[in-house]
Amino acid sequence: MNIPLVDLISQQAEIAEEIAGPLLEVLQNAQFIAGVPVGDFERAYAEAIGARHCIGMANGTDALELALRAVGVGQGDEVIIPANTFIATAEAITRIGAVPVLVDVDPVHLLIDPEKVRSAVTGLTRAIVPVHLFGQVAPVEKLLSIAAGAGAMIVEDAAQAQGARRHGRAAGTLGTAAGTSFYPGKNLGAAGDAGAVTTNDDSVATTVRMLGAHGSREKYVHEIVGMNSRLDTVQAVVLLAKLRRLHGWNSRRGEAADRYTEWLAGSDVRTPLSAEGNEDVWHLYVTRVADRDRVLAALAAASIGAGIHYPTPLHLTEAFASLGHIRGSFPVAEKSADEILSLPMFPHITPEQQDRVVSVLLDAIG
Ligand SMILES: Cc1ncc(COP(=O)(O)O)c(C=O)c1O
Repeated sequence: MNIPLVDLISQQAEIAEEIAGPLLEVLQNAQFIAGVPVGDFERAYAEAIGARHCIGMANGTDALELALRAVGVGQGDEVIIPANTFIATAEAITRIGAVPVLVDVDPVHLLIDPEKVRSAVTGLTRAIVPVHLFGQVAPVEKLLSIAAGAGAMIVEDAAQAQGARRHGRAAGTLGTAAGTSFYPGKNLGAAGDAGAVTTNDDSVATTVRMLGAHGSREKYVHEIVGMNSRLDTVQAVVLLAKLRRLHGWNSRRGEAADRYTEWLAGSDVRTPLSAEGNEDVWHLYVTRVADRDRVLAALAAASIGAGIHYPTPLHLTEAFASLGHIRGSFPVAEKSADEILSLPMFPHITPEQQDRVVSVLLDAIG
């Protein structure tokens, strides 16, 4: 039995019939850019998470970059982010000439640690980016007062948390703006690259839309220097179909997570815990085990696609060596990087598949 980390084929099978007609229509009418489904999706996604605006983008990295620019982050500004995240969070900051300031994560949830953020604030801090890692919502409310005191903005990285809520409010609506990714493997994934900015702020929304359309509101009237970052019509068709299923798919992820947690209880596998007040959406099910690389190899030998998110904290990557940190700078992120093991997680995973994952895993840890 081959069990992938993420199974996108089952998702496609579920929406295939529904998207066939609309996709053909986009192609036949050559509505490739800014076709009707783009606006339909933007409105539907905004409504689904309770945001005033959703602006479709070409990918999540662009979305973060433009959200940051739109809230006023620029050259030389400092932006505080967790050391354990996908590299795109830091790239978006670097691309606008700002400086990513890394902080350690909390040892239980591996989310940005508000106390570490407080100590990292300087006169140059212009934004804080809580990353809603693994489908959990970061404790944004604890960062809001720190941000306000520093005159900084909260820009959420909601790439891994479509549909997640904290105290009833959705990820992507908790700060001034948020960037999200619809990379195929995300909880809401396109058939290629796609992303969006969400915000309740009208002027941020206008600026993001302008920035993504070569700095123009009207064709050939370029008010600022922007870039080209648009959500393709074809992707909007796919995303509309998947958005209709997002809530159900997230519930199935939750059920699968509960099964893993129950079946691994009492073993030496440390299972993930949801923070109080969170409705997490289990983008990843991240356990922690001793001798992780050997366990990962045993799973791979049994054709089980486990993963590591992420093997190298940002400060230890070659790309961000210039930030000047060393091993030991962020001990929680570093220790967890050696232990974390993401088990196969997707809405269509079956109890039989999970049973196999758990039995191979328990055998491997001995
Ligand atoms: C936490 C995080 N931030 C940002 C991104 C960037 O998104 P994209 O790959 O769509 O550019 C991703 C996903 O890849 C992500 O997981």
